[in-house]
Amino acid sequence: MNYEKEIKKLAAEKGALILAHNYQPAEIQDLADITGDSLELARKAKEAKESTLVVCGVYFMAETAKILSPEKTVLIPRPDGGCPLADQLNPSAVLAAKKAHPGSPFVVYVNSNAATKAECDITCTSANAADVVRSLKEDTILFGPDANLAAYAQRLVPEKTIIPVPQDGGCPTHHQFSVRDVEAARREYPNATIICHPECSPDVQLASDLVGSTGYMIRRCGEKKEWVILTEKGIIHPLQKKYPDTIFHGIDTAVCSNMKLITKEDLYITLRDGVVPIQVPESIADRARLAIERMIGASA
Ligand code: 13P
Repeated sequence: MNYEKEIKKLAAEKGALILAHNYQPAEIQDLADITGDSLELARKAKEAKESTLVVCGVYFMAETAKILSPEKTVLIPRPDGGCPLADQLNPSAVLAAKKAHPGSPFVVYVNSNAATKAECDITCTSANAADVVRSLKEDTILFGPDANLAAYAQRLVPEKTIIPVPQDGGCPTHHQFSVRDVEAARREYPNATIICHPECSPDVQLASDLVGSTGYMIRRCGEKKEWVILTEKGIIHPLQKKYPDTIFHGIDTAVCSNMKLITKEDLYITLRDGVVPIQVPESIADRARLAIERMIGASA
């Protein structure tokens, strides 16, 4: 079957918009109407006129789209694609941290489950973590589940005290990078600029030349001719597409298996059969929406 043709035909017939994260397999990104980082996808999902959204990403991304557009049908081709980072913070840990630090707002990374977001004051993504922290009037901020992103925000907003919850939350794909990798990359590619994601450890962030979200990487990588990219390898596809004459060195082991589940066949079946629709209980969605909309307002 010519999946590309059938997917485009079905999407047009059903008035569906296909959104894909920058880490998705290349063929899925190429079939999408919109690609982007977590913040860009959340914004586009909210603004979309289409009544059906197909979110090619991990579960929390589709959940975020559904929370922002409860009237739309939001489909995810592979609901088994979770985020190991999201599972590192649950609602009771948020409530316990708030009890231990009365009056301190909780900033929750979008890489979290809806029930956790519902207990938090505001969400953030890697693209706007510092802006979100700065937007809060309080001096002490609870932040989770990514302790590396918390450290990044702390470095950019030194006037606040950011408490990571849990102390050591992190993404296994980004956690594998070490300063030794950065040093080895500098030896091997002396002319390259090294850019890492803020989910990398603070040491790796400091050893790199630039730090930013996947969307930031796509914006900045036109500035130099050779780069070492320290994030999930899927990002190399949109980078190479946008900057065909630039040299990108990705890290072969930096693969998020959850991000790589969706195939063209899955996407075709999703559109054909309308599966799998995301459901978020209203009592959770209403509170989580407040946290996500506050973020969108804070980083406009
Ligand atoms: P971005 O928001 O930078 O695309 O990152 C999403 C993510 O899940 C990183 O692991």
